[in-house]
Amino acid sequence: MRLSLPFFFSSSMALFPLFFLLFLLPSSSNAHNITRILAKYPEFSTFNHYLSLTHLAGDINRRLTITVLAVDNAGMAPLLTKKLPLYTIRNVLSLHVLVDYFGAKKLHQISNGTTLTASMFQSSGSASGTAGYVNITNLKGGKVGFGVEDGDGKLSSHFVKSLKEIPYNISVMQISQVLTSAEAEAPTAGPGDLNVTSIMSKQGCKAFADLILASEARTTFETNVDAGLTVFCPTDNVVKAFQPQYKNLTASQKVSLLLYHGIPVYQSLQMLKTNNGIVNTLATEHANKYDFTVQTDGDDVTLVTKVNTAKITGTLIDEEPLVIYKINKFLMPKELFKVPEAKPPKPAKDSGNDDEDAEAPAEESDDQTADDQNGASGLIMDGGKLVVMVILSLCMGFLVM
Ligand SMILES: *[C@@H]1O[C@H](CO)[C@@H](O)[C@H](O)[C@H]1NC(C)=O
Ligand SMILES: *[C@@H]1O[C@H](CO)[C@@H](O)[C@H](O)[C@H]1NC(C)=O
Ligand SMILES: *[C@@H]1O[C@H](CO)[C@@H](O)[C@H](O)[C@H]1NC(C)=O
Ligand SMILES: *[C@@H]1O[C@H](CO)[C@@H](O)[C@H](O)[C@H]1NC(C)=O
Ligand SMILES: *[C@@H]1O[C@H](CO)[C@@H](O)[C@H](O)[C@H]1NC(C)=O
Ligand SMILES: *[C@@H]1O[C@H](CO)[C@@H](O)[C@H](O)[C@H]1NC(C)=O
Repeated sequence: MRLSLPFFFSSSMALFPLFFLLFLLPSSSNAHNITRILAKYPEFSTFNHYLSLTHLAGDINRRLTITVLAVDNAGMAPLLTKKLPLYTIRNVLSLHVLVDYFGAKKLHQISNGTTLTASMFQSSGSASGTAGYVNITNLKGGKVGFGVEDGDGKLSSHFVKSLKEIPYNISVMQISQVLTSAEAEAPTAGPGDLNVTSIMSKQGCKAFADLILASEARTTFETNVDAGLTVFCPTDNVVKAFQPQYKNLTASQKVSLLLYHGIPVYQSLQMLKTNNGIVNTLATEHANKYDFTVQTDGDDVTLVTKVNTAKITGTLIDEEPLVIYKINKFLMPKELFKVPEAKPPKPAKDSGNDDEDAEAPAEESDDQTADDQNGASGLIMDGGKLVVMVILSLCMGFLVM
């Protein structure tokens, strides 16, 4: 058994039947869906297929203002014969996604007849200098040329026709040839090569990375990257302050606690903000076990367990399928730590009994961080949040029903 049995069963679990177990999925309220738009055109099926395969389709759908320069199946052939790794194809195709709106009309009315516009390759961070910019220039005879700003000044492709225009959300148009450059085709680290622990080590989460490397949780984190992974890492000083409690856990409890800090899907900050609710973690093996609730609190995204609440304080990496956030607390699951008593004036109806028979290995301390000195007020706060969470979950339950 990799996971230990929980120390106690919370009676408030009755409030969380199976259907409360909501996975966070990309919002379905998107204004556009590039896959669906291109599906109407069989001659763009290859381009469409690779947008999905490289996860670019999701990135395109999340943008509110975007232009996609599609290339037909014949035009894609020269790119595919190069047998580039998928992650490199992603870089090349991201040159075809402009983070601005260009309809056919605007294309012909560019002021001074030429412009440089940023592509998604530019915003991916893989491009240096102006390598992620696309040059659009009005040529003689009403032709519009496209080229990658890669120094040689060649406009290798041109506008063919408009496929779909939803001003100013999304414009999809055909260009004659694939835009590419040496920089876009340069060998890059694919997601499989992304080393979760070394990324954390280099960016303020070394202590947490070391805990993962020293435990069996390591393989789970390493093998989940390709399929999508979101990691919440407590920063070094948080881990240091948490050491006494961590040491108290058995080896298998440590594994569960570390796995509790990952969710097996990619969740951008925007997705976390708009899809609040209960999430399963890498430690979840059964319904209602080792989950927590994502809540948006003004500009902040907080992770609420039955025991404490952590806040996202930064992003180490956001490259679908991997995203790693910094958090200001160790997340404490109810399965391993004592749930704090809801304090008067009005204790939660159901949390009262849980605490008495809890045999938690650690105290309900919430003051792990230097900036959270007052443990007592922290407890009352969390009690309040617990009540809010129970009520919220109940409301969600009614919505589902
Ligand atoms: C454009 O996007 C906005 C925001 O997502 C949406 O409210 C609006 O309906 C969209 N416009 C069209 C024409 O689809
Ligand atoms: C977009 O459309 C495709 C094809 O219709 C569908 O499979 C996919 O789920 C849609 N994506 C979203 C985010 O709605
Ligand atoms: C267009 O060209 C004029 C004169 O060369 C210049 O002053 C102006 O800034 C240019 N406009 C844009 C949008 O580049
Ligand atoms: C775009 O490329 C053309 C052809 O090389 C060049 O004349 C023009 O100055 C470029 N436009 C911009 C804005 O750099
Ligand atoms: C990731 O980097 C760590 C050092 O931070 C190293 O020990 C580990 O072997 C690397 N993992 C993989 C899968 O390369
Ligand atoms: C460790 O566990 C013991 C026994 O359950 C408990 O008395 C002690 O308070 C715990 N220490 C910490 C730092 O949690």
